[in-house]
Amino acid sequence: MEKDKPLALVTGASAGIGRTFARRLARDGYHLVLVARRHDRLDELAEELGGAETMAADLTVEADLERVEDRIARASNLELLVNNAGFGTMGRFFEIPLDGQDQMHRLHVIATMRLSHAALGGMIPRNKGAIINVSSVAAFGQSPGNVSYCATKAWINSFTEGLDLELKSAESLVRVQALCPGFTLTELHDVAGMDRKPIPAWMWMKAEDVVDASLAGLAQGKLIVVPGGIYKAMVWLLRRLPKSLHHAGARRYGRLMRREAAQKR
Ligand SMILES: NC(=O)c1ccc[n+]([C@@H]2O[C@H](COP(=O)([O-])OP(=O)(O)OC[C@H]3O[C@@H](n4cnc5c(N)ncnc54)[C@H](OP(=O)(O)O)[C@@H]3O)[C@@H](O)[C@H]2O)c1
Repeated sequence: MEKDKPLALVTGASAGIGRTFARRLARDGYHLVLVARRHDRLDELAEELGGAETMAADLTVEADLERVEDRIARASNLELLVNNAGFGTMGRFFEIPLDGQDQMHRLHVIATMRLSHAALGGMIPRNKGAIINVSSVAAFGQSPGNVSYCATKAWINSFTEGLDLELKSAESLVRVQALCPGFTLTELHDVAGMDRKPIPAWMWMKAEDVVDASLAGLAQGKLIVVPGGIYKAMVWLLRRLPKSLHHAGARRYGRLMRREAAQKR
């Protein structure tokens, strides 16, 4: 019976990391609520999974966000919320249209905050459940051309860390995690119009490995999960590097990306 199964709600389930979470959680015995804008993709996935609830929603739109909040608030068996929906953009903040940056903040920040609040409203009294907020290694630094992306992901880490402190100080068993992947083979780079070529093959991770690391980390109660040895080393270094060296590296990366973009034009 679906009602007897634990429920997981995954945002951005129509592609990439979110779809991979959905497949893995279905195998683990969860009933799923799949959220994204492309309903056809969600329906296909629901069929593949042998049944799941789908919600077509643009989480940057107030009415859609309210519908998802309401679904979460009504779910008495919600055990896992995965705030995964996200996207990247290309170009300097002051040169690109504001629209995309505004939507990114609505999706990465406002939707994550609102859906987390809705989920905790039920999880806290039940003293059970978890929230995975999909962040990025970009949360640990800044790079030209990624200002809003890095800033919103840093917010996700800070928000999740703050929640963790509150939950622990309230002696709650509810857990939270900020999942910080590096380059992962999904549709994100196609959607943003980014070229994958400048990134060496060894830097790309599979979405399956990212999801495995997240769920293994959740079972161990890890707050910040950075999948993959290379990225663990990178984050270790980023956290210790003097700002001047970090910024020199970021400027170099920014120049490389701009050169690639110019060659493509
Ligand atoms: N791929 C990477 O290298 C990488 C690295 C670090 C972190 N991440 C993070 O991982 C998360 C998942 O990204 P991905 O790599 O799996 O990218 P993806 O394959 O492009 O998937 C993004 C998902 O987000 C959904 N989405 C986008 N805008 C939405 C909106 N306004 N409302 C509702 N859903 C929306 C998309 O569905 P619809 O288009 O159907 O709405 C899609 O399901 C993101 O938060 C991203 O920042 C990715």
